[in-house]
Amino acid sequence: MAKHSTQFACSDCGAVHKKWTGRCDGCGAWNSIREEVPLSAGPSKQTLGTAKGRRVALVDLATEEAPPPRTFSGIAELDRVLGGGLVPASATLVGGDPGIGKSTLLLQGAASFARAGHAVVYVSGEEATAQVRMRAQRLGLADAGVRLAAETNLRDVLTTLEAEKPDLAIIDSIQTMWVDTVESAPGSVSQVRACAHELTRFAKRFGTAVILVGHVTKEGQIAGPRVVEHMVDTVLYFEGERGHQFRILRATKNRFGPADEIGVFEMTGAGLAEVANPSALFLGERDTPAPGSVVFAGLEGTRPLLVEIQALVAPSPHSQPRRAVVGWDGGRLAMVLAVLEARTGIGFAGLDVYLNVAGGIRVGEPAADLAVACALLSAREDAALPRETVVFGELSLSGALRPVTQSENRLKEAAKLGFTAAIVPRGTKPGDGAGVSSRQLGDVATLVGEVFGAA
Ligand code: TYD
Ligand code: MG
Repeated sequence: MAKHSTQFACSDCGAVHKKWTGRCDGCGAWNSIREEVPLSAGPSKQTLGTAKGRRVALVDLATEEAPPPRTFSGIAELDRVLGGGLVPASATLVGGDPGIGKSTLLLQGAASFARAGHAVVYVSGEEATAQVRMRAQRLGLADAGVRLAAETNLRDVLTTLEAEKPDLAIIDSIQTMWVDTVESAPGSVSQVRACAHELTRFAKRFGTAVILVGHVTKEGQIAGPRVVEHMVDTVLYFEGERGHQFRILRATKNRFGPADEIGVFEMTGAGLAEVANPSALFLGERDTPAPGSVVFAGLEGTRPLLVEIQALVAPSPHSQPRRAVVGWDGGRLAMVLAVLEARTGIGFAGLDVYLNVAGGIRVGEPAADLAVACALLSAREDAALPRETVVFGELSLSGALRPVTQSENRLKEAAKLGFTAAIVPRGTKPGDGAGVSSRQLGDVATLVGEVFGAA
């Protein structure tokens, strides 16, 4: 049989295929398959059976060593997402859409680390030194002591880092780096993987904390950050909505701390500003109580976050009424509508339903079910909930309401922002929600009867 000298890899998930296909079997992405020269090709190819390896030393799990001291950037939102500061000898991936603010965040982070007395090297493969300097100047970071280089040849980068031995090295971005041992172009799956592998190894050997920037790519010419997620210790994604100033840094993997932690920032004319109180940011635009508007006491990672859920229900001119959702799951909305119809008799047939989470944030928790149900009923019945009320709880298909986790935290956050009442499932721990009186309900029928005054 003929030997394959090339293979085809998905630039989204890295799955390897023997033949080119239009759609990746691994992740389902279209047009993401690219031809690659496999790493094992070449004269060094040898089966392991013939080469005798070195015997490696085995050790006990117990250790006398204290955990490595973490270094703090002084940017609280960043330190929190890292699980309480940066761990030496660790590799961190920061992914995000182009233009979302990754370079800005890391330049500010680098400056902050440097000001705290750590040696920091920033390697830019995308911008010239003059550009980075100009940005640093504008953000008032020029005197922070960050050492800068514009370079894409990884061999040179590693030699430099070995000589400098910084505490922190930032590589912006991993897709611009290339090693001469791999034939394919920079940004290809093999190059990105090989570079990330070398940099991770460097981190472990020299004790440097390495941060890799990875662009999330849409069209598959360039490998996305997902292809290196498994190699690094920590994966952070920087997210935001077009047209909104807020940015969320989210940990999706962390070997040294909780995953799911978030940090909230606001993009301003003078760089990224920390948002210490995100609930206030997302509720900022709320004014008089309006039918269809409900405040959901949610949770992002371990952090309580209050957001406004808005519903609009209107007679539909179409034979197929519209169901439009922004910031929540469309399937989940269909479920809530069906449960309301089946368990309370309040139908939405012939009505267009629009649901929106204000502020451009996305809610993923089932705990939002009850808030969505309240917003829909409130819009349908044209009855506003009292202004100082928060809602949370999960809805089951039987119409019963189920308590959700961390109710105390949610209530505490509500109290902090001046809310005095809560609508929650029966069995919810009241906690010491300091001044929030919670109304406990067993099912949606009771909700309709007691809160919306219809049976
Ligand atoms: P950047 O950090 O270059 O994004 P990335 O590295 O993720 O591609 O940020 C790009 C955007 O941020 C750019 O469109 C302008 C905006 N920005 C501000 O609004 N204020 C600022 O102070 C800076 C530096 C950037
Ligand atoms: Mg950038």
